[in-house]
Amino acid sequence: MSTPVIDTPIEAPRALREGAFGNATNLVCRECGATTALGPFYACQECFGPLEIGYDFPSITRAEIEAGPKNIWRYQPLLPVPADIAASPNMEPGFTRLIRAHNLGRELGIKNLWVKDDSGNPTHSFKDRVVAMALSAAREFGSKVFACPSTGNLANAVAAAGARAGMKTVVLIPADLERPKVLTTAVYGGTLIAVKGNYDDVNRLASEIAGEEDGWAFVNVNVRPYYAEGSKTLGYEVAEQLGWRLPQQVVIPVASGSQLTKVDKGFRELVQLGLVDDAPYKIFGAQASGCSPVSAAFKDGRDVVRPVKPDTIAKSLAIGNPADGPYVLDVARRTGGAVEDVTDEEVREGIQLLARTEGVFAETAGGVTIATLKKLVESGRLDPEAETVVFNTGDGLKTLDAIADRVGPAATIDPSYAAFTATGLA
Ligand SMILES: Cc1ncc(COP(=O)(O)O)c(C=O)c1O
Ligand SMILES: [Zn+2]
Repeated sequence: MSTPVIDTPIEAPRALREGAFGNATNLVCRECGATTALGPFYACQECFGPLEIGYDFPSITRAEIEAGPKNIWRYQPLLPVPADIAASPNMEPGFTRLIRAHNLGRELGIKNLWVKDDSGNPTHSFKDRVVAMALSAAREFGSKVFACPSTGNLANAVAAAGARAGMKTVVLIPADLERPKVLTTAVYGGTLIAVKGNYDDVNRLASEIAGEEDGWAFVNVNVRPYYAEGSKTLGYEVAEQLGWRLPQQVVIPVASGSQLTKVDKGFRELVQLGLVDDAPYKIFGAQASGCSPVSAAFKDGRDVVRPVKPDTIAKSLAIGNPADGPYVLDVARRTGGAVEDVTDEEVREGIQLLARTEGVFAETAGGVTIATLKKLVESGRLDPEAETVVFNTGDGLKTLDAIADRVGPAATIDPSYAAFTATGLA
């Protein structure tokens, strides 16, 4: 009798550890509301709509949050991460400064203006927040590879967080990315692959790999529902730092649109939990004119976001086919905000304006947001009397080329007092 051939059994999905996702209960379709069990899924089985995290929140007080660590883990009960998350190696992002912007406010005629400066995160952009969520999910799912397609900042954050957690990383970037962003990713030692194409091509390739390969956690593709929740912490922090109050107006940059929609989700959760008063707020989105599919749809009154081919210096925002575009339109319209776009020249001016008024050096995405703030207030759509928070989500040192031919020494002189007085400064 011959021995029967036994196929290698397909590896059973790893059982999730009790409390692996904190108070998260399931995945909910953003289109049809169908629910599914927590797992490494991102599309609804009924309608292919995007999934997001559903929770059963405990009651929680301001004092309990304030007693937590000075990073995003103070909001652990509101995030899809285990209660012991702070004990696992991670980048400890968040709790970045909210600065009062008197000088910028005076220049723009805005009475009560704040800058949420997220360039203060460990890899100098807000992406450390979302990557921390994705890292936790990847660990809980037993993923072998921590990966992403990126417009630059996500590449930095994934490579660094993976290095710290001892995970193998693979980062895919468009081949024409700014050199500082390439180097500040490669230095962490994972695998960096430059793809000959734009971000949308890179993203398509990542989705294909995620579909073919087992055990790959693409942070913004197949673990996107978990990843995206990290941006809620920007909303939580702004409210807490204002003294547990929602700002009346917020201006946020838009690439895929995830951050903007999750700040709104964060605000609504704070109201639902009784942590802030239920007061109206308006959310404004900012794009570069060279990649403004969401702004174009907003202005045309369309619900459909038509993909574009990006051509802008704001490469971190250069997503021509933004996954959350329609939801950004919903948020802007529901809250009475808007989505606006600005030229590359305005982006450069925006970077310089923030730097010279507040001493904050933003990357091109911040330039987009500051320039949009200016345009919105000048055109009367932003109320100059209302409390306003503008986001700087990345660091200017990563996009030096944007201002390289606009700033520099006032004079180059010999090292003598005579030469110094000749400049007319003394
Ligand atoms: C600095 C910076 N700000 C904002 C964004 C926009 O993020 P989202 O894709 O969530 O709209 C990005 C995206 O890469 C970014 O790098
Ligand atoms: Zn659905």
